[in-house]
Amino acid sequence: MLGVPKERPTHAEQPPLVLLRDITKSFPGVLANDHVNFEVRPGEIHALLGENGAGKTTLMNILYGLYRPDSGEIYIRGEKVQIRSPRDAIQLGIGMVHQHFKLVLPHTVAENVALGLNGTPFWAPAKVVAQKLRELSTRYGLHVDPERRVWELSAGEQQRVEILKALIRGAEVLILDEPTSVLTPQETAELFKVLRRMKEEGHGIIFISHKLDEVLEIADRITVMRRGKVVGTLLAQEADKATLARMMVGREVVFRLSKTTCNPGEAALRVEDLYVRSDRGLWALKGISFAVCRGEILGVAGIAGNGQRELVEALAGLRRVERGRILILGKEVNGRSARAISDLGVAHIPEERIRMGIVPGLPVEENLILKKHHRPPFCWRGFLRFLAIREFAKRAIEEYGIITPSPKTPAKLLSGGNIQRLILARELSGRPAVVIAAHPTYGLDVGATEQIRQILLRQRDEGAAVLLVSEDLEEIMELADRIAVIFRGEIMGIVPAAEATLEEIGLMMAGEKRVKVEG
Ligand SMILES: Nc1ncnc2c1ncn2[C@@H]1O[C@H](COP(=O)(O)OP(=O)(O)OP(=O)(O)O)[C@@H](O)[C@H]1O
Ligand SMILES: [Mg+2]
Repeated sequence: MLGVPKERPTHAEQPPLVLLRDITKSFPGVLANDHVNFEVRPGEIHALLGENGAGKTTLMNILYGLYRPDSGEIYIRGEKVQIRSPRDAIQLGIGMVHQHFKLVLPHTVAENVALGLNGTPFWAPAKVVAQKLRELSTRYGLHVDPERRVWELSAGEQQRVEILKALIRGAEVLILDEPTSVLTPQETAELFKVLRRMKEEGHGIIFISHKLDEVLEIADRITVMRRGKVVGTLLAQEADKATLARMMVGREVVFRLSKTTCNPGEAALRVEDLYVRSDRGLWALKGISFAVCRGEILGVAGIAGNGQRELVEALAGLRRVERGRILILGKEVNGRSARAISDLGVAHIPEERIRMGIVPGLPVEENLILKKHHRPPFCWRGFLRFLAIREFAKRAIEEYGIITPSPKTPAKLLSGGNIQRLILARELSGRPAVVIAAHPTYGLDVGATEQIRQILLRQRDEGAAVLLVSEDLEEIMELADRIAVIFRGEIMGIVPAAEATLEEIGLMMAGEKRVKVEG
């Protein structure tokens, strides 16, 4: 067990900005926080690590006034406080950027920031807000145009708006719950600059992430949680990946996968000269063609926003094909519904999990059979067979390690990573012929990431054609047999993974076409 290290030399004389003492919180069937101690000092980035469902978000929701602890105390700058609502938290100088953003999409940046600000609209007319926004963005390097509408912004820009929103309300402590899982590597680097700037100004930052490299890079101290308890707190300089992973998971974690050589069969998914539009009516895909064979993983690399989302949606039957064809097992599927495509044996792991992957209010077990409830064994002569559903759910929960108090718990109450496991369990059960996986390990802890990657490899070995869309180049290099690089709706090249170099892929991601393009 690792103890709390000695106080940091800087700001040591000041009381901690935040001190959570002996916090306990239980939900029906789970002890989410079990006598947790945690502190943040001024000028410190304190990372919070832990497996999916370890209790990180719960602890932060308590600090932000969204939940009341069952017991324990909260001290802000040395003073004991009661935080009954986010309003209390904001008044105490605490800001939070949630795991899933809470912006109002049709509104402008300035309107979103002004929303809920004390005394609006009288106290803070849009002009004043816009002015203040510009000041803050320059000071912290948070660049966004106050006049733009939120739906037009990339994930990284939306996040900057969330941070600005907290800063304009006077946040001294900023909670970031998995801020980088939706960011490109470039956006992450930008965010880190902002965080370092905030740190210099004496802010305290709580940084939740599953990416160990990142945590080691940005954090001053790291606290690891497992099953509701704090396992230990250590200085980032004294930590390393293997130690952290072991503390989180309670066992050794392998960072290298064993991958067999690829043995591709016939093409199970074929895309010919595909044209698709974006939400804004612009061309998102401009005539792309490729094929994925059974027993093969085709990785699609590229910076977010270059047509990946539209590609995945078109393949899953969720977006109209304007021109060209999609063939699944030789059948043209243009214009077919998502369910018809799923019935052909296509698994879809969507990018926006909460919006597209689950029905939040339905129990876990029903979410596990969504899209399949009309088929045997779950349905027989029009009747749902509850025993079969229960049996299946039990097995899936076990096999995919979904942490849930019961199969009847509404899916929205699961932790972020466990929602992801639920979707994977549903989509990958029943031997799909084609697997379309968009960012399958986003938000998963190290153990689960390892497990999911192995599952995808197993699907491939069992003969599925896997299309893997990811911004994580390391993930693509490790899993894919061939790599297609997408840029502004076109494929820059397709390279066998064994021959691919990071430099070449990087150049193509920036828009350089490969000379030899394969189909
Ligand atoms: N409102 C709630 N009602 C019931 N159970 C909840 C609620 N919120 C969280 N839980 C449960 O508490 C546990 C801790 O969840 P929490 O969201 O804090 O985990 P986490 O560490 O943030 O995980 P992840 O990395 O997956 O986001 C989980 O088992 C979760 O299902
Ligand atoms: Mg969480």
